[in-house]
Amino acid sequence: MRYLGSKTLLLGEIEKIIKEYNGSGVFCDPFGGIGTVGNYMKKIGFSVITGDILNFAHCFKVALIENNGDECFFKLKKF
Ligand SMILES: C[S@@+](CC[C@H](N)C(=O)[O-])C[C@H]1O[C@@H](n2cnc3c(N)ncnc32)[C@H](O)[C@@H]1O
Repeated sequence: MRYLGSKTLLLGEIEKIIKEYNGSGVFCDPFGGIGTVGNYMKKIGFSVITGDILNFAHCFKVALIENNGDECFFKLKKF
């Protein structure tokens, strides 16, 4: 999912600039939207701190950034 203001097309440039300063560590992504940038930084090895005022954006980031494995969905019921 992309929306107006998404940084998807700039991810390579952002990585290049960040790595000029530091190749690892903590990446802070305030106003992080649906987590496009934070998720990318997580994948290349940074710990990510992020947030957004919108609930749906928060849900995206829990799925992409906070979770580290497959969900077990143990509370789902069979019908
Ligand atoms: C341009 S979008 C971020 C796009 C993101 N970097 C990406 O690449 O997908 C800006 C975000 O700032 C969030 N925002 C605006 N005001 C905010 C506030 N006061 N606190 C937290 N988030 C806020 C909006 O909900 C929106 O998701």
